[in-house]
Amino acid sequence: MNSKTDSNIIRDKFFDFFKKNGHTQVASSSLIPAQDPTLLFTNAGMNQFKDLFLGLETRSYTRAVSIQKCMRAGGKHNDLDNVGFTARHLTFFEMMGNFSFGDYFKKEAIEFAWNFLTKEVNLPEEKLHATVFLEDDESYDIWHKVIGLPKERITRLGAKDNFWQMGDVGPCGPCTEIYIDRGLEHGPKDAKPGDDSERFLEIWNLVFMQFDRQPNGEDLKLKKPGVDTGMGLERLLMVLEGKNSVYETSLFQEIIQNIEKLTGKKYQDKLKPAFNVLADHIRSSTFLLADGCTPSNEGRGYVLRRIIRRAALFEQKLTNKSIFPDLAKSVISSMSNVYPELKENQDYIVSVLKSEVEKFASNLIRGRNLIAKMFSETKNKNLITGEETFRLYDTFGFPTELIELVAQEYNSKVDLDGFAKEMEKQKLQSGKKIKHSDQINLPDD
Ligand code: SER
Repeated sequence: MNSKTDSNIIRDKFFDFFKKNGHTQVASSSLIPAQDPTLLFTNAGMNQFKDLFLGLETRSYTRAVSIQKCMRAGGKHNDLDNVGFTARHLTFFEMMGNFSFGDYFKKEAIEFAWNFLTKEVNLPEEKLHATVFLEDDESYDIWHKVIGLPKERITRLGAKDNFWQMGDVGPCGPCTEIYIDRGLEHGPKDAKPGDDSERFLEIWNLVFMQFDRQPNGEDLKLKKPGVDTGMGLERLLMVLEGKNSVYETSLFQEIIQNIEKLTGKKYQDKLKPAFNVLADHIRSSTFLLADGCTPSNEGRGYVLRRIIRRAALFEQKLTNKSIFPDLAKSVISSMSNVYPELKENQDYIVSVLKSEVEKFASNLIRGRNLIAKMFSETKNKNLITGEETFRLYDTFGFPTELIELVAQEYNSKVDLDGFAKEMEKQKLQSGKKIKHSDQINLPDD
C-alpha cells in the first residue's frame, strides 16, 4: 500500500482543506434517507442538506464539508448493472463534498476544487479538463480567465451530462465537471470528456443549485442559489495510486485478498469481473445492513436482496463454497475506524447474510440447471421466452437481471416484454395492483 495515498490520508486532507476555508464538518447521514419518500437510498452528499437548499431550514453554518456514504442501486441513479463490467462503477461509494447554502457560488467553488486537486493532492494541471453546461458562459469564463484553463480543455455539454438533479423532484441545477486525461492507452486521440471511452475519467462534479423541480417538471428558482459538489473517494484514489480500476486501489485490497484466500483463485484476467462484483456487493450489503436495511420482497429490502443474489451468482464463477457472508468481516475490519456502525453490528450483518445466501443457494442451483436444460433441449435457442422468464422469477426467485446474466453465458437474450405480459396476467388473476418496478413482489424462498 502506498502510504501517501492511503484513503485515510485523503479523507483527512479533504476535511482539513475545507475546514481551513470556513466549512463545518458534518457527519455522513445514513444510507436510508430520513423522512424522504422521494428517494430509495441516499445517493449523494447533498441529500441530507435538501431542505437547506430549498430554504426550508437554516443552520448555524452556511458552508459544510462531508464524506457521505452513497448507494446507487435502484432508483434514479442506478449503477448496479454496470458493476463488474467497468473499472469505475460501484453501487456503494464514499462521496466527498463541499456545500454552500446561499454563501459562495461558482467562482469560489471552482477555485476550491482546482486548488484542492492541484495543490493538496498534486494532480498534474495539464491533465485536467473541465466540462460546463452549454449555456453556462459564467463557468466557462471562470475556467478560462480565472483558472487559466486553455479553451481546448473546456468542453460544453448538454443537460444529460451537465445538469444535475437529485430525483424527479427537488433541488437541481447546471454543473461543471472535472475530468482527468488518463492517456492515449485508455482511448483514442479524439476522445473527449463525457464520451464512452475510458480515457477521460470524471472525478468531481460541482453543481450550482438554482432550481426546485416540481412534479409537473417546472423548475422554480431557489431564493438563494447554492453549491453542491461531489467527488468519489474511490476514483480519486484510483488516479492517485495510478491504478486502472477502483478495485485495484488500496481501499479494496483486504477484500480482494480475502476472496483470493477463500477461493484459492488469483485476481487476474477473466476472473476479475467476478472478484469486482463480490467486492462491490459485499461493501454495499454490509453498509446497508449496518444502517438497518433488511432483505425483503419490496422497496429497499428488495434491492438489497437483488444485490446479495447477484453476488451469489458471480460467486459460482470462483468457488462452490459459500464465502460471501465471511467477506463482510474484511469490510468491517478495513472500514470500522471510519464507520464504527459496522463493528457494532458485525454479528447481525454476518448472520443475515448467511441466512439470505442459504435461502437462495438451492434455488440458484435448480434455476441454473433449468436454464441449462432449456438450452440443451432446444437447438439454436437464442431467447429465454417471457413464459420461461416468469417461471424462473416466480418459482426460483430469480430477478430478471440475473436471468439476463445467465442468458449472456449462452449468447442469448431474455424476452422482457413477454415477461411483463406474464406478470400482468398473473397480477390480474390474483387481483393484485401492479407496483412500481422497484417494488416487484418476489416469492420468499
Ligand atoms: N450531487 C452531485 C452528484 O451527486 C454533486 O455532489 O454528482
